[in-house]
Amino acid sequence: MELLRDADIDPVPLARKRVAILGYGNQGRAQALNLHDSGIDVVVGLRGGSGSALDAESHGLSTALLEDAVSSADVVMMLAPDEIHAALYREIETNLREGAAIGFSHGLSVRFGYVEPRPDLDVFLVAPKGPGTALRSLYTEGKGMIAVWAVARDATGHAREIALAYGRAIGSGRAGLIASSFAEEAEADLFNEQAVVWGAVPELLIAGFETLVAGGVSPELAYLECVGELKLIADLIEARGIAGMREAISNTAELGALLGGRRIIDESVRKRMAEVLSEVRAGRFAEELRREETEGYPRLEEARRDNRETLLEETYRRLGKTSD
Ligand SMILES: NC(=O)c1ccc[n+]([C@@H]2O[C@H](COP(=O)([O-])OP(=O)(O)OC[C@H]3O[C@@H](n4cnc5c(N)ncnc54)[C@H](OP(=O)(O)O)[C@@H]3O)[C@@H](O)[C@H]2O)c1
Repeated sequence: MELLRDADIDPVPLARKRVAILGYGNQGRAQALNLHDSGIDVVVGLRGGSGSALDAESHGLSTALLEDAVSSADVVMMLAPDEIHAALYREIETNLREGAAIGFSHGLSVRFGYVEPRPDLDVFLVAPKGPGTALRSLYTEGKGMIAVWAVARDATGHAREIALAYGRAIGSGRAGLIASSFAEEAEADLFNEQAVVWGAVPELLIAGFETLVAGGVSPELAYLECVGELKLIADLIEARGIAGMREAISNTAELGALLGGRRIIDESVRKRMAEVLSEVRAGRFAEELRREETEGYPRLEEARRDNRETLLEETYRRLGKTSD
């Protein structure tokens, strides 16, 4: 595996280029500000009447309508939500300069064919492995967030150097840029979202909380045990790895984890994980995402409403935290 850092990357390929960031949300804001602070000429492309223009301009960024931003740029980064990439690309395609580069922070749209960039365009991926808020705060602390990069098409012969210079300019070269492909990044990312950190872990916490409460434990204690300790283990794993985390906890906790962990995460879980991976690779989730957007996000809206009303969330609020 190739892992590159600042010293391995030439920043010059981006130095005289203009970058249009399309979308000023979680990733768009962070990447635009990091690029700007790295001395790159950035324009934020927004739809008419966007409420984001004020924030971008107050931070010294230029803003323009999508089509104007795109036609003025050498590099265009697609940082609107994945499910609208197909429509957004159709809207901007004729404004893209001949021989420009188009970039993504998720492999999904290209891997599953929702965007098929024009043959003259370089197509690259720089996908920071974490949320935009952290990408920005790490950058301002002089650190960086590890990112995956790839080239799907090298039309000009410069796609690789542009991708790497882009990754460096958002600060990821300080932590490391890992070579991958659109397919590998998209599939691994969607798998993790469903089967590991974002899908399975919260459900495990909820199941643990509900089991303790059903067994007569107070919701407050159940919350502190099953949910409140997550940050502690995450910090330990980040600092010492999983083996180091296990060595750092008490013998009681370590033996409990040894006996209990594999009882819960058994072969049946691995089998279902493999099913999720196959479904992701077959494009089933990408299709679901597209359907959800077309229908106006009914499942997401309903889940967001329901999630707020649970005993676990009430307990979270009672313990003096807020969920906003
Ligand atoms: N979220 C993350 O932490 C994360 C991490 C790694 C990679 N990524 C990837 O980064 C990309 C962006 O994700 P995100 O979570 O940052 O998106 P997001 O926060 O949901 O993006 C919101 C931005 O997209 C704009 N937008 C929404 N619909 C639009 C439309 N129809 N036309 C034009 N602009 C539109 C919004 O415009 P207004 O300002 O007008 O509302 C807003 O500026 C995705 O490919 C995602 O997979 C995200």
